[in-house]
Order: sequence, then structure tokens, then C-alpha cells
Amino acid sequence: MKKDPWPGVIDRYRSWLEVDESVHVVSLGEGGTPLRFAPRLSERVGANVYLKLEGFNPTGSFKDRGMTMAVSKALDEGSTTIICASTGNTSASAAAYAAAAGIKAVVLIPSGHIALGKLAQALVYGAQVIQINGNFDEGLRLVRELAQSHPLTVVNSINPYRLQGQKTGAFEIVDELGYAPDAQFIPVGNAGNISAYWMGYQQYHEAHVIERLPKMFGVQAAGAAPIVNDAIVVEPETVATAIRIGNPASWKLALRARDESGGAIMAVTDEEILRAYILLARDEAVFCEPASAASVAGLLKTPVVPGSSVVCVLTGNGLKDPDTAVSQVQVPKVVDTSMKEVAEAIGL
Ligand code: F0G
Repeated sequence: MKKDPWPGVIDRYRSWLEVDESVHVVSLGEGGTPLRFAPRLSERVGANVYLKLEGFNPTGSFKDRGMTMAVSKALDEGSTTIICASTGNTSASAAAYAAAAGIKAVVLIPSGHIALGKLAQALVYGAQVIQINGNFDEGLRLVRELAQSHPLTVVNSINPYRLQGQKTGAFEIVDELGYAPDAQFIPVGNAGNISAYWMGYQQYHEAHVIERLPKMFGVQAAGAAPIVNDAIVVEPETVATAIRIGNPASWKLALRARDESGGAIMAVTDEEILRAYILLARDEAVFCEPASAASVAGLLKTPVVPGSSVVCVLTGNGLKDPDTAVSQVQVPKVVDTSMKEVAEAIGL
């Protein structure tokens, strides 16, 4: 079979992922996302801030790094149906990789609490979409139960291959910078991604690719901050629907990342998230989704060492959530098709 000229994360990091050559790789060319220097944000916080733009992945979020692994392995193990619960991005990614693999995807999403772009993706890629009258945590519980008694492969981040794939985000940051940053800020929902990055940094450290490890700062939304509160949140609520999670599956792993790295897990309010969201667009020309902006909202309220290097992981593309985008700006006024009116509207 012909190889893609643009390799995905398995082809680029095969030995680190322990995938043998015999496994048929289902890839959409994920990874290789830009690490962009953020000049204005750097000036604002007094450090060198880089943004890892995960919205450049094939389905517009970091989930693709893990999904190429989970789906390649599922296919290798003879699975014909994958299943996940999702706040949106996992469902979009699962749907796309299932389409590429020629297998079925079933996704459970919280009715009324998933961004429009993500719902559109899952449907158009052809997944079977089930909307539940419940939240992500309840969906994940159902998925786990269903998979115990039916031939379904769970592709949530409780599937260990997902975190393996997602750790390549850390590899790329190091490969681009030539070192690990002093600090990394990352949004936390189900807590898989922070755990995956920490695993990636640790692996590079053990192999002497890097000499020192970054401090890991995880950022939860204040209305969905079980790790910060040290208690399950039964009814999580936040504008950042991607991280609207009250009982994260990788809770313990996230605590380990925090404690072993000497970092912190913090909460930011919806107001702080939306302020960072607009600031990223206006100051750095980056349109990310609200959950992604939580990482920058976290940075903005954390004192950092002057001149140090900081990476904020911006996990998903702003186009995913057009409703929130439009709700945060003034709706443009409509004028007649006349030179005079248009000139006036421009303010000429
Ligand atoms: N940012 C975005 C855009 C996400 O979609 C998610 C998680 C996170 C951050 C948090 O990552 O869960 O590994 O801590 N989205 C999942 C989903 C839950 O179903 O799409 P995490």
C-alpha cells in the first residue's frame, strides 16, 4: 500500500509508541502542529510563551494523536465497532478515524451541551450519534458498562493507547524547542491529556533527550473543578463544554503529573476563560475553542519566572464552537447596498 507523504504520529514516533511494522496504521496525518511564539502574551507575562496549536490536527483537536493509536490497535485486534462518551472532540475524532478504518463508531454525547461544529463532524463522518439526557460522566459510565457485555472497543482515554498517542505532543514541543519548557499550561477535563504529556516528557527525560522536566499546570473550569476541590462535581457547568466534567477518569494520573513536576492544578472562571479567548484572537491571531483558552487564563493568573519558557497547549480549533464565538462579539449591523450607507457604516 502507498505511504502518505505526510506521516502521522505513529510513523514519526513508532519506536516510542511501540507499534510494530505489522500493524496497519490508520492515520489522517495528525500531529506536526505549529508551536507558535506569542510575542504580545510573552510581553504581558514577562516570559517566552509558545502556543501549541492543536486545532491544526485533521479533526481540529489533539484527540487525533490518540485516536490514530486507538483505532489502529482496535483494527489490529479485529474490532469492528468503537464506542466513546464525549463532550464533542473525542466523538468527532472517533467518527473520522472509524470512517478511515472502515469500521463503525458509536458516540454518546450530553444532549444540548456539545458545540455545534463537533456535533456536525460526528454526524457527517457517519458515526451513530446518541444524545443522552445526562452529562459526560454518566455517558462514560454507560460506555464502560456496555463494553463489558458487548463486542465494543472503548476509545475514551481510559483506552491506554490513547494516552500513548497523545504523549507525542510533548515529544514535538521538545523536538521543536530543543529543550523542555520550564512550565506547561494545559486544560484539564477527563485529565487524560495532562497525564499523556507528563508521560511523554518523562520518557524523553529517561532517555536523556532532555535534562530537566517542565512544571505541569493543569487548568479546570471553576464550575467543573473536581481535582481542585478534591471532590466529585455532580453537576459540572461551564461555557467551556469540552471540559464540563465532574469525575475525571485520569484523576490520579493528573495528581501524579502535578506532584512529580512541582506544578499545580487550578481553576479559572468562565469570565477568565472568555477574556483569554478574545485576547488570544486579538493579540495573537489564534482562534481556539473556550476550553483551550483555559490554559492561557491559567497562565495569566500564575506568576512565572521572568524570562523562562512557557508552553500553553491550545487543544482545539475555535471553529468548533461558533455559538460561543458569536455570543462574545457584537452582531454586525445590516445596511443597504449603497455606497453612502456602507461608507458611513465603516466610519469613513
Ligand atoms: N480541550 C479540549 C478542546 C477538549 O476537547 C478536552 C477534552 C480537553 C481540553 C481536556 O482534555 O479530557 O484529556 O483532560 N475533551 C474530551 C472529549 C473529554 O470528549 O472530547 P482531557
